[in-house]
Parts: sequence; structure tokens; C-alpha cells
Amino acid sequence: MSTSTEDFFNELGDQYDQVIRRCVPQYAEMLESMMDYLPPKLLTRIARDQASVPALKILELGSGSGNLSSIILDRFPESKLTVVDSSEKLIAVVKSRFGKRIHHYQKTLFQDLDFKDNSFDLIISSISIHHLNDDEKLQLFKNSRQWLTPNSPLAFCDQFRGETDAIYQKHLKNWKTSSFELGSNEAEWEAWMEHQEAHDFHSTIRTHFDLLEKAGFQSIDCTRRYLLWTTMIAM
Ligand SMILES: C[S@@+](CC[C@H](N)C(=O)[O-])C[C@H]1O[C@@H](n2cnc3c(N)ncnc32)[C@H](O)[C@@H]1O
Repeated sequence: MSTSTEDFFNELGDQYDQVIRRCVPQYAEMLESMMDYLPPKLLTRIARDQASVPALKILELGSGSGNLSSIILDRFPESKLTVVDSSEKLIAVVKSRFGKRIHHYQKTLFQDLDFKDNSFDLIISSISIHHLNDDEKLQLFKNSRQWLTPNSPLAFCDQFRGETDAIYQKHLKNWKTSSFELGSNEAEWEAWMEHQEAHDFHSTIRTHFDLLEKAGFQSIDCTRRYLLWTTMIAM
């Protein structure tokens, strides 16, 4: 990743939250819905007597301003959550929101992350992995498989390409209409598209299935799709 992606999110800083809600239609619904598809064993584990069950260890990749972190902490209040992001400004926003409720904050590129095998019971991410090209995605998926305890899930939602260019272009057109309905405008849209052109790597659902399979994941499924935004889970 060039430093410009970091600059882009650092510059958004305090504005990030309002911008993302205007520029990602059905943002809140998408984040909530991802949690609904997590395996019941994770939820039953927190429902049992906490004293006898070790805390769930969760890794969030690309925390932004902490909107997914907030949902994770609501669902898994006793978990040990590690959040990773390359933007110092956004890590600071998350720290000011959650303080010690988050176990560990890490300002690192996904490409440079290094955890011990079996470190996490869940790896989760929203709208962040598309900043990696396909080779980098594959490496991150391979690493994630090593970092996860056996049979634990990787769950993420992100921006995906359409299988045909016509479908992709239609998604982009409908996305613009939805964003304007949510209060965005031509200048904001242009800035977003400029960032997308330079730094985003939208791949198809098929490519994501292939990469996850190559990385050794099984039981891969797509649990939600709205325009570009697709949610996947893999064990
Ligand atoms: C579009 S935001 C999504 C944030 C948040 N998950 C949400 O749903 O609002 C993408 C986030 O990923 C971070 N990011 C982008 N590329 C990254 C990379 N290569 N390594 C680490 N973080 C990255 C950005 O700083 C930004 O906070």
C-alpha cells in the first residue's frame, strides 16, 4: 500500500464516520448481519460460566473509527479484542471511544502483521481487505488460517467486483444514486472515486472463493450481497 491510503484515512480522521455512513449504503445493516452468521458455538461459549471458559480472542482487521469494534464489544463483552489499522488518526479515534475495553491496539499494515499460530478464535473485518491486491489478499488469508484456532471463522464484508463489467458498472451507478440519497454530493463522490481508482482492488466473489480455498479454508459461503458489498464467512 502506498502512503496515500494512510493519508486518505488520516485526513478523513474525525469526519470518517459521517462520510462512511453517506458513502456505504446499508452500512449498519451490513455490519449487524455479519454477526448473525457467526457460528453459534462462539455465542454459546460466552453464554456459559465465564470463570471456567477462557475469553474469546478476536482480531479485527481495519477498525476505521470503530463501528464494527462497537458491535463486537456488544456481542462479546468479555472478549479480548485486538484491532489493527494503518491509520494513526483512526486508531486514536477508536482509543478515545473504547479505551481499555479493547485489549490491544495495533497500528500496522495488514501486510506486516505477525501473530503466533492459534492466536484467535475469530478474525473479522469490514470494508478493509479490498485495499490489498489479490496476491496480498491470498497471503493475508493464509496467515489468518494460521492465526486462527482450529475450525474458527474468518468473517468479512467488503467491496467486490461484479462477475461481468456490465453488472459492476450497474452497481457503481446504483451506489452513486444511493449515496446521494444519503446526503453525499459530487465533490465527495469524486474524492471517493479518486481514492478507489488509485488504491482499491475490487475482486469478484469467484476470486475470493478461489483465494480462500487456496489458503486452506473450507465451508466458504457468501452470506449477504448488496451492490458491491458482499459478506463472506470461511472456516
Ligand atoms: C473503509 S475503512 C473501513 C473501516 C471500518 N472497518 C468500517 O467498517 O467502518 C478501511 C480501513 O482499513 C484501513 N486500511 C486500509 N488498508 C490497510 C492496510 N493495508 N493495512 C492496515 N489497515 C488498512 C484504513 O486505514 C481504514 O481504517
